[in-house]
Amino acid sequence: MNQTELKELLDSLSLKEKIGQLVQLDGGCFGAGELATGPQAKLGIEPWVAQNAGSVLNVMGADNVRDIQSRHLGHSRIPLLFMADVVYGYKTVYPMPLALASSWEPELAQRCAQATAREAVADGAHVTFSPMVDVCRDARWGRCMESPGEDPLLNARFAQAYVRGFQGETPLSGAGVSSVPLGEQSLVSCVKHFAAYGAVEAGRDYNTVDMSRWRMVSDYLSPYRAAVEAGCGLVMSSFNTVEGVPSTANRWLMRDVLRDEWGFDGVTIADYAAVAELVAHGIAANDAEAAELALTAGIDIDMKTSCYANQIESLLEEGRLSIEQVDQAVMRVLELKNRLGLFEDPYRGLAELPSPDREGARNAARKSMVLLRNEVAAGDEAPVLPLRRGQRVALLGPYANSRDLNGLWAVYGDRDAVPTLAEAFSHELGEREFRWSEGCRMLSEDELADLGDFGSVSWIQGPSPLDDAAELARSVELAEWADIVVFAVGEHMLQSGESGSRTDLRLPASQCEWLSKVIPYAKRSVALLFGGRPLELCELSGSVDAIMECWFPGTEGAGAAVDLLLGNDSPSGRLTMSFPRSVGQEPLYYAAFATGRPAATSKHSGRFVSRYIDCPNEPLYPFGFGLTYGKVEYSAPGLSCDELSIKDLIAGKRVGIAVEVANAGKAACEEVVQLYVRDVAAAVVRPVKELKDWRKVRLEPGERKRVDFSIGLEDLSYVGTDLRKSVDAGLFEITVGPDSSCGSMVEFELK
Ligand code: GLC
Repeated sequence: MNQTELKELLDSLSLKEKIGQLVQLDGGCFGAGELATGPQAKLGIEPWVAQNAGSVLNVMGADNVRDIQSRHLGHSRIPLLFMADVVYGYKTVYPMPLALASSWEPELAQRCAQATAREAVADGAHVTFSPMVDVCRDARWGRCMESPGEDPLLNARFAQAYVRGFQGETPLSGAGVSSVPLGEQSLVSCVKHFAAYGAVEAGRDYNTVDMSRWRMVSDYLSPYRAAVEAGCGLVMSSFNTVEGVPSTANRWLMRDVLRDEWGFDGVTIADYAAVAELVAHGIAANDAEAAELALTAGIDIDMKTSCYANQIESLLEEGRLSIEQVDQAVMRVLELKNRLGLFEDPYRGLAELPSPDREGARNAARKSMVLLRNEVAAGDEAPVLPLRRGQRVALLGPYANSRDLNGLWAVYGDRDAVPTLAEAFSHELGEREFRWSEGCRMLSEDELADLGDFGSVSWIQGPSPLDDAAELARSVELAEWADIVVFAVGEHMLQSGESGSRTDLRLPASQCEWLSKVIPYAKRSVALLFGGRPLELCELSGSVDAIMECWFPGTEGAGAAVDLLLGNDSPSGRLTMSFPRSVGQEPLYYAAFATGRPAATSKHSGRFVSRYIDCPNEPLYPFGFGLTYGKVEYSAPGLSCDELSIKDLIAGKRVGIAVEVANAGKAACEEVVQLYVRDVAAAVVRPVKELKDWRKVRLEPGERKRVDFSIGLEDLSYVGTDLRKSVDAGLFEITVGPDSSCGSMVEFELK
């Protein structure tokens, strides 16, 4: 349809048809006949709401979608939009975002999102609630697994990559967006959670977020803006408050910033039940006020509550809402459906599922894993990894034979298609060289009980019955038999993800106890870590020779881990979130402000500086850190000029930075060369360093490469207290290195 026809359609709609377009219900409300009345009644809506609903939440499967859509069109002239949490994969699951970001390859994320779109569109999805790009600096928050991590720039680049991957290069929003219909295999992207959900106080999910507007604009909003500028079709409001007002009712955020300043003209949707939750927040006295606040703030779609459905009509009658506000929201929903071509083909995209992208998933998993430690064991001459051919390998631990490698948000992942580590190892090593045992439970009964009712979710396998004593004895026996023990341990998938906040970041206590009894029998030891967040690894790092963070690596994670352990490829991942020495350090991030008493350089005596008395300030493993099988050396960076006038900078002149990297090791590797800048003195405090760019370069043994960067006005500017970009004359420190904690620094002056 063209714009005129869409407007005619809008004008022809009854009020109920219009209100329906602003309501999203789950599949239960669209059951055939009587099946629907139960869920509808439970939600408190009348049948007309479902009959006129605009979209469906989390219904997938070509047959299901076709069935619901065809029945819906029996009593509505407007097709349904199908939206789902296809966050980091559909049937084929890629590494969770915090893992995939550890590849530092946005183009890889784009390819994974593209492949995901092919699968999900074939099975009925029109919109995915992805990417989640919340800047996250507190590992206690379980949802950090869904985010690219703690750095605004890196999150922004991955945000753009995911949007382009899901949607194809066709922007779906942004001023003057073309009305070119989307490609048949495009999946509309909904960026979330707008805004700053990753800054929940105490890392506790759904908790308060409160920070200065300056800090929010400076550190937290840019990744969402990047997604909007990449043309994402929707923006989802977050559960949390922003300056005392929940995002879902926050006009500054949803209108002044998102629409007026950024020019977003796509659809906005509240997070699950967030409209009704305005009452619980204490910002609305009842559902009517909640609906009024949300629609006035600019929320187009009410996800899974009855507020819009039951309140908008009376709010219009009372003059608390205007039909223009309703029409604007409805028009945006109709335009989205029109861009998808749903009016012409309500079954758009439905097809046979493409064959699983196993090789792509395995490659992505290899690139996502981070080698944190790789020491030389007593009596050896080389680090314990890669494994030597002919070594007897014992694989021990609750993840040894687990298929639960996808993580919590892979709700549609084909779990049965996930090979286990034991299967992957057995495929590579013969009986003589390889044995495995589960060793211990993933969680004790108490720890499992802590997970709440989620523990009963059908697609999550309960713990297998285990004879602890026999398993321990078997573990010791295999540890003594083996030349090297690979421990496969980590968090249960329910210990991260939504409402997966923890106050203790160590491995589950039951696993720690078992490890302490078995490690002493291991001649050499490697720990493979599975889980959704940075963990507190001081104890583990002091007791095993090597540690590789595998995260929730997705469908092909086991094969990928074995590829790296056997040296078929070198680990290349780099952390995008700091790993603490203690949970007491959280929130913990590299781009921190120096304070007036920096521990390392303050003139005050030892005690009276910014420090803890019981723990160093520094993380155990810093942002950007990761080992490879190579040995990479850096030259000092060279600048194209060591000073520049602000006038030239504003005119577009840039500063070139060049560095040489060489692999002095015996194995090829991929190095992530990182560029950081520090503005030594500005009108507001600036971080001790900020990531400005990076290059991932492959280096064969003995190979040397020159790496070039350039920085310009946008890299040397900052957000001032007036919330505008500023740049000052003065000194800048430019550092190039392998991670945020080290590297060679050169000074540069802006005149
Ligand atoms: C959840 C999450 C959000 C998700 C939505 C729909 O509560 O906060 O990320 O997309 O509900 O399932």
